[in-house]
Amino acid sequence: MISDPEALKNNLPRVFIKTFGCQMNKLDTELSISSLVKKGYSFAEDENDADVILLNTCSVRDKAEHKVYSQLGSLRDQKEKNPALILGVLGCMAQNEGDRIFKRMPHVDLVCGTRMFSRLPELLGEISGNNRQILAIDEDGEVNFDRLVTQRQNQHNAFVSIMRGCDNYCSYCIVPYVRGREFSRSVTDIVDEVKKLADDGCKEITLLGQNVNSYGKGLKGKVTLASLLRELDPIDGIERVRFVTSHPKDMTKEIIESVGELSTVCEYLHMPVQSGSDKILKKMRRQYSSAHYKGLVDMAKSMVPGIKIASDFIVGFPGETEEDFEDTVRLFHDVRFQNSFIFKYSPRTGTAATELIDSVDEEIKKRRNHILLDLQKKISTEENRKMHGKFVEVMVEGGSKTNAGRLSGRTRQNQIVVFNLPEGTKQADVSASLSGKLVNIEIEDSTDLTLFGVLRDSPFNKMTH
Ligand code: SAH
Ligand code: SF4
Ligand code: F3S
Repeated sequence: MISDPEALKNNLPRVFIKTFGCQMNKLDTELSISSLVKKGYSFAEDENDADVILLNTCSVRDKAEHKVYSQLGSLRDQKEKNPALILGVLGCMAQNEGDRIFKRMPHVDLVCGTRMFSRLPELLGEISGNNRQILAIDEDGEVNFDRLVTQRQNQHNAFVSIMRGCDNYCSYCIVPYVRGREFSRSVTDIVDEVKKLADDGCKEITLLGQNVNSYGKGLKGKVTLASLLRELDPIDGIERVRFVTSHPKDMTKEIIESVGELSTVCEYLHMPVQSGSDKILKKMRRQYSSAHYKGLVDMAKSMVPGIKIASDFIVGFPGETEEDFEDTVRLFHDVRFQNSFIFKYSPRTGTAATELIDSVDEEIKKRRNHILLDLQKKISTEENRKMHGKFVEVMVEGGSKTNAGRLSGRTRQNQIVVFNLPEGTKQADVSASLSGKLVNIEIEDSTDLTLFGVLRDSPFNKMTH
């Protein structure tokens, strides 16, 4: 909870923000909190204690928007009981739906798009003073990356935005329409922010962008993701650097080399392939073939020992036949992804794919979805079993929620590890002191999603990997 005596003195309202969607939205929530804290706002831990409720929303699939509409519907009662309550919709769905939100949900006070976060304090001020609805979805709004490094969810890890927007216009995707044109932040700004985060105790950073592999486009000189990673590697205090998401069409040998060579950069790529069928990839406008994708995976595996690859998939894209789906299944077997996010195609108004007929039945989409989920579960279970008896470097995140005698953390490859403490130690004794530290864990057991082990050595600086 962020409490601020100034806020109480000025009697500014208490804000509650709920975040939907991807990591970029989580970061936008932190940026919004920063801009509100600077103006003296404080925050409620529970929506029932709040004077302002903001929903930071996602539009990527129909279901995501439904969720928000149903949440807004259930907030109607609260608003009726307390007419002074300010209710706002932020982010991608605000940008996409605009004043349709006011039409469907007249009790909403604010609709604030993806480029308007820095004006939040001003907008909230206007509403509470005048009791009127405000629509702020200007596409030319300036995104202010200026964050208070202290306003973040976790002490030891942080997201850092390196770019905004997307220029790829994959035919199914709404992101370029709601997030605008691709824009890379300067290296100096990013390095400064990471240094500040490191000074504040942050050990791991995740660089964020819709397509981080094209980072640098539009900046002066030859700036690339690989060159940025080299600038970040020597920063004191930063032990691990991750980046998401990697578009296969912009993946380079240079990026893969930097993953292998730089000690901070983790051996993990989230590189969504979406489909294994060249016909479907073409219709999706992804600009690579499945052979090219496999070539990248082979290169990564040969240049970076132990690297793990994660992907996103869409099943039931218009025109996807059984043969096309079989191509995806084959690719699944070839690559053996560490984990996958599998989605049923959802037509988005305004995107190019809506010109194609949404030809695959919902039942078939469901079946294909289940087949891939089951396959991923089987592969993850088998791969995790291969880890039994091995030692891994884990960055400790904190106490395990389900067992008081255990802690949990992540490997460099982003696997969750839950580990037992040596006999006689209590979680409370070590949790705070080990949090954010690197420890050596011997893996003894696993499920598809979690590795289980025992603490063998702690803390230690840099393991060779
Ligand atoms: N920029 C990232 C992905 C952002 S959206 C990239 O290009 O890899 C996250 C995922 O949502 C996508 O990878 C895709 O698998 C899924 N997705 C996007 N639009 C979708 C739609 N209309 N229907 C179903 N899934 C979709
Ligand atoms: Fe969407 Fe494609 Fe851009 Fe990813 S790269 S955000 S899938 S348009
Ligand atoms: Fe992210 Fe959803 Fe927007 S995936 S970019 S919050 S549409």
